[in-house]
Amino acid sequence: MILSPSMLSADFSKLGEQIKEVENAGAQWLHIDVMDGIFVPNISFGACVYKSLRDKSNLFFDVHLMITEPERYVEDFAKAGADIITFHVEATKKADECIEKIHALGKKAGISLNPGTPVDAVKPYLDKVDMVLVMSVNPGYGGQSYIEEVNPKITELRKLCGDDFLIEVDGGVKKSNIKSVVDLGANVVVAGSAVFNDDITGSIKGLLEEV
Ligand code: DX5
Ligand code: ZN
Repeated sequence: MILSPSMLSADFSKLGEQIKEVENAGAQWLHIDVMDGIFVPNISFGACVYKSLRDKSNLFFDVHLMITEPERYVEDFAKAGADIITFHVEATKKADECIEKIHALGKKAGISLNPGTPVDAVKPYLDKVDMVLVMSVNPGYGGQSYIEEVNPKITELRKLCGDDFLIEVDGGVKKSNIKSVVDLGANVVVAGSAVFNDDITGSIKGLLEEV
């Protein structure tokens, strides 16, 4: 399992320091939540924020775009140092174009679905993307509770995509439920508040120990 701590819950006044700590504690990925205030009710940060971290970190930059018409911005996010760019199937009418653009920029492409969106919505893209991100909260904020109703979608996607495909689960994951999320079929797990609201190193080690 890959742990992808979500920077959204970091203390932005100590971002460089905290991201170093995430890396030293043994996480491999860094989850970077970009919100535009339109696709989701909240605004977070843009490409320039993680661009300044790129040469200070060896973490795999896992950029989660919660923005409308992501095709407008994938180039900026790629150039800022993303390793994988994931966009929402609900946010664009041009999912194919988006995937092609991301790949043409030399990056991995992911597609995400909200808790209320059925697996059928992403099925046409499964053989074109490198990852599916299953939202287990309604996107917009860190610190929400895990929505159990998404569990059958994780199982279904694992069956559809085979053993090695990347399936990421995002929202409400903590020490008490990380093992069950992995058992359902997730192999990339996001944790925001469960990492940054406490001792970062201890929290990451605690989460990794559970699986
Ligand atoms: C929610 C974001 C998540 C969020 C996760 O819109 O996509 O990545 O930061 O935070 P926790 O782990 O606190 O639910
Ligand atoms: Zn996210």
